[in-house]
Amino acid sequence: MLTVEDLKDLKGKKVYVRVDFNVPQKDGVIRDNNRIKAALPTITYLTGKGARVILMSHLGKIKWKEPDPAKIEAMKKANDMAPVAKALQELVPETKVSFCEATRGEQLKAAVEALHDGEILLGQNTRYEKGEEKNDPELAKEWASLADVFVMDAFGSSHRAHASTVGVPSILKAEGKPVAEGYLMIKEVENLTRCVEVKEEDRPYVAILGGFKVSDKIKVIDSLLKKCDYVLIGGAMTYTFKKAMGMNVGNSPVEEEQLEYARNCIKSAKGRLLLPFDAVVTTNFDPEDASRTIKIVDTVIEKGGMIPDGFEGCDIGPKTAAYYQEIISKAKMVFWNGPMGVFEQGEFQNGTKAICEAIRGIKGKAFTVCGGGDSASAVKQFGYKADFSHVSTGGGASLEMIENDGHLPGVDVLR
Ligand code: 3PG
Repeated sequence: MLTVEDLKDLKGKKVYVRVDFNVPQKDGVIRDNNRIKAALPTITYLTGKGARVILMSHLGKIKWKEPDPAKIEAMKKANDMAPVAKALQELVPETKVSFCEATRGEQLKAAVEALHDGEILLGQNTRYEKGEEKNDPELAKEWASLADVFVMDAFGSSHRAHASTVGVPSILKAEGKPVAEGYLMIKEVENLTRCVEVKEEDRPYVAILGGFKVSDKIKVIDSLLKKCDYVLIGGAMTYTFKKAMGMNVGNSPVEEEQLEYARNCIKSAKGRLLLPFDAVVTTNFDPEDASRTIKIVDTVIEKGGMIPDGFEGCDIGPKTAAYYQEIISKAKMVFWNGPMGVFEQGEFQNGTKAICEAIRGIKGKAFTVCGGGDSASAVKQFGYKADFSHVSTGGGASLEMIENDGHLPGVDVLR
């Protein structure tokens, strides 16, 4: 796989860089510019070499199945890339950043032609094109025709086989043009590959999985159970497992159609899949409601543990948190995806914070990866980012990389 540093004679070359600028934003206000910052090493390397940099990214989702064209237009408007161009310009004040309203056609071609060496052009949201998510060959051909070189730096989108992530590099490669990975991709792929190709010195290897749905994590649970010494479960998906074991889970969310899977999973894991044995429960999630009741309950089924009717589990309990901390303290490698509870509310963040603390405790002694998404937001919010060996910028992508033994369409195409 070529890296950006293998690319020669970049001066004057038109380099199509797929970045992941899918940043959280509303009404043009960007709430977190970390993903833009994460792509800067690649962008500034290229502009420093005199390349003409064409950045392309998606932003948000456009639901093309929507029959009402006015609603499609509203979705487009809500995901306009123009504010991202402004945010990027603020981060690279010495470099000219232009923005092109068009996603294809003469306007985009002219904007690319107008670029000077060392300048940047950001294209409009790739998902404004219906063909993007279908990897439409005509669209990919048109985008590929704009560039001499392709650089992939959108790790967070590399599980999507779309026109801008897979179509363009496939065409350029077939034409004998260079395709390479950028600095962010290099770092992400290297760190996540270590979690997939497990070496003996990285054992005990502990995975921590939280989040809402078992159905979102089935493949990753199966894959991690093959690789890890322990898989610790937290978050709302706990209750599908608990119900599968016969526990009363009160009002906690349960995926009925996954009960069979959960039962088989516990059986085949032979004690390596660990479930919480106490929980913080609440009558409701309204912090304004003075009458709501929050308490800690035991959930050891054999001892009659249960979540009472009218209550819902919303964090792992303190005994589970302490036990998980003990297991993590002995780990040589940790992969974590998904918070332990509803960490957005102060009363339910202790479990997630306990995991962060445990990771801090093994800093420098173990290799620790936070696999993006909500757990990465929690890690940043609680101030633990520097304690991890790696915090991924890609939630879905890092999970799929684990599921597919290191393979992702947007990575494989570069190989
Ligand atoms: C992400 O935010 O995980 C990536 O940008 C991919 O976005 P998507 O799930 O909308 O494809």
